[in-house]
Amino acid sequence: MSIVYLNGEYLPLEQARISPLDRGFLFGDGIYEYIPSYDGKLVGFRLHIERLQRGLAELKIELIRSVEQWREVFEEVISRNGGGHQSLYLHISRGADTKREHVYPKGIEPTVFILAAEIDAPQVADPALATTYKVSSKQDLRWGRCHIKSTALLGNVMHKQSSVEDGCDEALLYNELEEITEGASSNVVVVKDGKLATPVLDHQVLPGITRSILLDILAKYSQRGIEERIITLEEARIADEVWMTSSSKDIVPVTEIDGELVGDGKPGPVWQEIMQLFAKHRFDY
Ligand code: PDD
Repeated sequence: MSIVYLNGEYLPLEQARISPLDRGFLFGDGIYEYIPSYDGKLVGFRLHIERLQRGLAELKIELIRSVEQWREVFEEVISRNGGGHQSLYLHISRGADTKREHVYPKGIEPTVFILAAEIDAPQVADPALATTYKVSSKQDLRWGRCHIKSTALLGNVMHKQSSVEDGCDEALLYNELEEITEGASSNVVVVKDGKLATPVLDHQVLPGITRSILLDILAKYSQRGIEERIITLEEARIADEVWMTSSSKDIVPVTEIDGELVGDGKPGPVWQEIMQLFAKHRFDY
């Protein structure tokens, strides 16, 4: 049975209740984090909490807790769910009001929820065993504040669903200038002639923690480096390798875009090289 954390209590999922007037339910007025833990060890924890704190500040939700206070709660949830490989989903909404009104109400307590779920072992740097994605490209029709990890994910959900209905695993999103933004739930990296590039961070892109760990690993342990710049959809189509990064899947090689092979349609040599580094260093963060 899954033990969740809700507003200071640890309790079975079946007993967890929130109000229908919760603003997360009514307005998607909240933010979230998804953090993997393998053998009980959290990946990128401080980076996730720092992004959460930036999101809370942006939404003017007052909830003061240090990284260490959060860590205690997360470790308790992991331990109450038996350790092993688990994802931790943290959802914070502005809380429940007594009426439905758009303007931020004063004096309500945020709702804080953490859900653990069993996950597979992390990605390994082996082309034969790797999770890979087929993607379909879609014009990015989400809102203009994609840097906030908002729980209002309908735009992302619709893009992902549409790609799954195309027989794919993920959407490759591009803006009105046909520049890549990101995936429905991942960031994008392209490799051409051994050179790596990823879209520059702005309001169109979530600053992914896997992306930032990857950038740091590249800076410290690889000569290759990576350029943060505008990448067109056309560049992705003719790239030697395309990867999608996320906390749920690490670094995933893309084998097809809109039914056309990327490179030779297999996880590429640069992915294998960098995935080895990532696997070695993921717990440093
Ligand atoms: N999604 N971009 C979007 C839109 C995302 O939803 C995610 C992650 C990412 C990658 O960010 P990170 O490396 O911090 O996981 C990029 C999570 C996994 C989710 O929605 O469950």
